[in-house]
Amino acid sequence: MFQRLDAPSAHVTFDFEGRSIHAAVGDSVAAALLAAGVVDLRRSPVGGEPRGPWCLIGNCFECLVEIDGVPSRQACMTLARDGMRVRRQRGAAGARA
Ligand code: FES
Repeated sequence: MFQRLDAPSAHVTFDFEGRSIHAAVGDSVAAALLAAGVVDLRRSPVGGEPRGPWCLIGNCFECLVEIDGVPSRQACMTLARDGMRVRRQRGAAGARA
């Protein structure tokens, strides 16, 4: 669905629920996950439906994930970095940029 248009020269690698994700330096977590084919980043707190990034500019909060044990991080506003551990957000919690 999403395809990288450039050929990045430098990479970082992070863990997404046991899967190694390779991202370009400067990629947001959301961009890296979309490029890797991961489109559902959280489950809705009411019905558990899969939700994914929508605006990619920090407005919609559809991209909330848990990063290094901290919930409600906006994946589109967080730069990917080596060694981070990212998990899908399940349920509601306060949002952080
Ligand atoms: S995709 Fe909308 S806030 Fe992250």
